[in-house]
Amino acid sequence: MSDPTILVTGAAGFIGMHVARRLLDGGHRVSTIDDINGYYDVDLKRARLAELSKQPGFAFEQIDIADRSSVDRLFTELRPTLVIHLAAQPGIRYSLENPHSYAESNLVGFLNVLEGCRRSNVDHLVFASSSSVYGERDDMPYRESDRVDKPVSFYAATKCANEIMAHSYNHLYALPATGLRFFTVYGPWGRPDMAVYLFTKAIFEGRPIKLFNHGDTWRDYTFIDDIAEGVVRVATAGRPDVGAAPDTSYKIYNIGNGNPEHLGNLVSTLEEIIGKTAVTHELPAQPGDVSRTFADVSALKRDFGFSPSTPLREGLERFVAWYRRYHGV
Ligand SMILES: NC(=O)c1ccc[n+]([C@@H]2O[C@H](COP(=O)([O-])OP(=O)(O)OC[C@H]3O[C@@H](n4cnc5c(N)ncnc54)[C@H](O)[C@@H]3O)[C@@H](O)[C@H]2O)c1
Repeated sequence: MSDPTILVTGAAGFIGMHVARRLLDGGHRVSTIDDINGYYDVDLKRARLAELSKQPGFAFEQIDIADRSSVDRLFTELRPTLVIHLAAQPGIRYSLENPHSYAESNLVGFLNVLEGCRRSNVDHLVFASSSSVYGERDDMPYRESDRVDKPVSFYAATKCANEIMAHSYNHLYALPATGLRFFTVYGPWGRPDMAVYLFTKAIFEGRPIKLFNHGDTWRDYTFIDDIAEGVVRVATAGRPDVGAAPDTSYKIYNIGNGNPEHLGNLVSTLEEIIGKTAVTHELPAQPGDVSRTFADVSALKRDFGFSPSTPLREGLERFVAWYRRYHGV
């Protein structure tokens, strides 16, 4: 098979950077886009791009996927054969404050990417979904066959919408599409709005950390290298066979560690690694949050021979080592 022409969206982002880097390490050429918006520290986004630009075969263009004419032009010029779509407005809590930015990036932007894929006859669209599509439920672990029509945040609603939008393009235009439901991703170059980063920063600075739901939450924390490995395995496995029996041209997979951890364990492990005690402040649950997540990853393992396995302590040690280097503490 000839080398695919790869487009990665959201490459200035946490997961996008690691996926692009892994592809570049594997000798692929990778074209990337991002709008470098100010949802969190743009210096971190630029620093990620600076890391990527050290590698040969890397190209970047600043594009807002909600801007239809820019996305049209990009697809016309690049003619990608493999699209890994990770650009999105993430975050549960911010979707209560600014739902329109989710509609723009995750609905309009997603449609623009779908249209680009359709017109360019893309071999495979791999896109980011989220564990948040499962909503609040008691039956664990979460399976891809579960119904996901009761999201409890607008962010989650946009991710549910992405899955069914991609399904319609698969059905109408035979666009091979695979949605990956990521479970609470953490690691070096991570997101400053997420618990692992927020807690680490607060512990180093001696400031209190907020434990929502009085600290009684469980998350299937998944290390970034495992996520990047999963994405790259799915994306480079070749064009899914449209019309084959069973049809593999539209699929959804969980990518999670399959090992939920209590919030208290996250905090105590960080305390041990950093060597400082956290000041904690317990608060009620926040609207939009779920109390637990837990991935069944047997489908990913069956089809791609891989499932995440990095233990929380090892992943946190690698995160804190990066944090110390990056922030000089
Ligand atoms: N990190 C997680 O735990 C997690 C969990 C589930 C799903 N996801 C999904 O994975 C994907 C990547 O998430 P991440 O954690 O790397 O987040 P991130 O915010 O670090 O990366 C997303 C990138 O997309 C860019 N972007 C946003 N809107 C854009 C637009 N309109 N045009 C162009 N670029 C735009 C941002 O600037 C950012 O660099 C997202 O789709 C997210 O919803 C992440």
